[in-house]
Amino acid sequence: MSELGEMIELQALGDSRGGLVVAEAQKNIPFEIKRVYWIHGTQEGVERGFHAHKALRQVAVAVSGSCEMVLDDGKNTESIPMESSVTGVVIEPGVWHYMKDFTAGCVLLVFADDYYDETDYIRKYDEFKELKNRI
Ligand code: TYD
Repeated sequence: MSELGEMIELQALGDSRGGLVVAEAQKNIPFEIKRVYWIHGTQEGVERGFHAHKALRQVAVAVSGSCEMVLDDGKNTESIPMESSVTGVVIEPGVWHYMKDFTAGCVLLVFADDYYDETDYIRKYDEFKELKNRI
């Protein structure tokens, strides 16, 4: 159960030969996918992210290995273990997030509903808190 990030079950079609997981836009991914990126080879002890988006919606899935996804809506913080290649977490706009405790070889795949746009990022926590206090 997650309060800040909806958990999404992807379609697992594996059989005795191995795993197969399917993600489809507007089906299990709740938007049209415009961009896919993945974070891999993260060095030991490194934490990444530390931003919120103004409008971007994303779904993250640890397709290999595991990490911890920390979500913060300005009021509550939640740490979600990302350890299943069949389960994604929705990162909504206005949610500060960072990732930590990457296992060696962890691959975090992210589906996004828009192209990369640096102006959509809030990268300063003070700015994020200020914005949240205004709404
Ligand atoms: P950054 O946001 O710092 O990564 P993380 O939040 O995972 O720590 O991104 C690293 C660099 O890559 C930064 O200069 C922005 C750039 N970037 C793109 O050009 N396109 C993308 O789709 C993403 C996700 C990042």
